Amino acid sequence: MAKIKAGVLGATGAVGQRFIEGLKEHPWFELSSIAASERSAGKKYSIAAKWRLESELPKDIGEMTVVNVDPDEVEADVVFSALPAEEAIKVEADFAAAGFAVASNTSSYRMVEDVPLLIPECNKEHLEIIKVQRENHGWDGFLTTNPNCTTIMFALSLKPLVKFGIEKVILSSMQAISGAGYDGIPSMAIMDNVIPFISGEEEKVEREAQKILGTYEGGRIVPADFEVSASCHRVPVMDGHTEAIWITLRDDPTPEEVRQAFLDFDPQLSDLPTEPERAIIVRDEPDRPQPRLDRQAGRGMSISVGRIRSGIRYICMGHNTVRGAAGASILNAELFRKVGLL
Ligand SMILES: NC(=O)c1ccc[n+]([C@@H]2O[C@H](COP(=O)([O-])OP(=O)(O)OC[C@H]3O[C@@H](n4cnc5c(N)ncnc54)[C@H](OP(=O)(O)O)[C@@H]3O)[C@@H](O)[C@H]2O)c1
Repeated sequence: MAKIKAGVLGATGAVGQRFIEGLKEHPWFELSSIAASERSAGKKYSIAAKWRLESELPKDIGEMTVVNVDPDEVEADVVFSALPAEEAIKVEADFAAAGFAVASNTSSYRMVEDVPLLIPECNKEHLEIIKVQRENHGWDGFLTTNPNCTTIMFALSLKPLVKFGIEKVILSSMQAISGAGYDGIPSMAIMDNVIPFISGEEEKVEREAQKILGTYEGGRIVPADFEVSASCHRVPVMDGHTEAIWITLRDDPTPEEVRQAFLDFDPQLSDLPTEPERAIIVRDEPDRPQPRLDRQAGRGMSISVGRIRSGIRYICMGHNTVRGAAGASILNAELFRKVGLL
């Protein structure tokens, strides 16, 4: 089968580089276009982007010329967007209208009614709303989003607990600095420090999980009925968001029943290339999960949970720029192909 052409919008940034890494040897997609701001357009990718990942930038990709984020300049069937949210509003709609499948990382469209907020292991049936979206806008293409990097970790961990009746979630996050992008936080501000404020983060985290765990009924997504209360903090960790979670469950399960529900979770996506062997890994050691030790689990696509105690309380951790960003969008696009949208 011929590979599907894939473009990356915002390819020079922290998430954009993770997209390049995830696509460079992908069995279904081939990287066909790299786009960024007019500061980078016209330059070779190796000049425009300061490659900061531990893996090598392949020579042929370094030689590619960066183009503008313009549907007329990008040659692809699917585009992955890692643009700033304010830029994404117009650009992503333009690409969907021009016939591209758009898998976006940005917050711009996450809460829009006819746009799926996807985690394939949680709500693949929400892709049904694409029909409604195309009718509403007259688009040849379509637009999907993945959740905020903090939401995605705990929302995935909630999925096996839905059967116990989720009533309320309280969470406190310890978020990595890569979540703010390369130019996000000066090292002088974060070294030896904790910053107890991330602009707009708590608002996103408090509303996205209900849409993700909602049901698709009569052409709309009906949000799940539970409350989320969040406090978000930036900590001096490179990659990996850690979240301390307190959850009220109607059926009052024991910690062992919750642990078993995590272990039994088997979302059956039928072998998507980016899907990890286990979406949720249970760590029984008293001092796990930890970002440095657990963020690469499942090539960065598994989340790890541990310290499951009565309450119910537990810790949840995952790689914010892989499972929380680029890997999430790539998994979504693999699902598009599986269900015939690509
Ligand atoms: N970092 C994370 O963990 C994470 C997780 C989930 C979601 N997100 C979201 O993903 C998006 C990207 O985040 P990031 O951390 O990768 O940011 P970043 O490192 O600052 O990268 C931003 C990218 O967007 C491009 N860009 C900036 N302004 C532009 C414009 N006016 N027109 C076209 N391209 C423009 C930049 O190109 P130039 O190099 O040419 O300036 C660069 O490629 C954001 O919306 C963020 O909220 C990030």
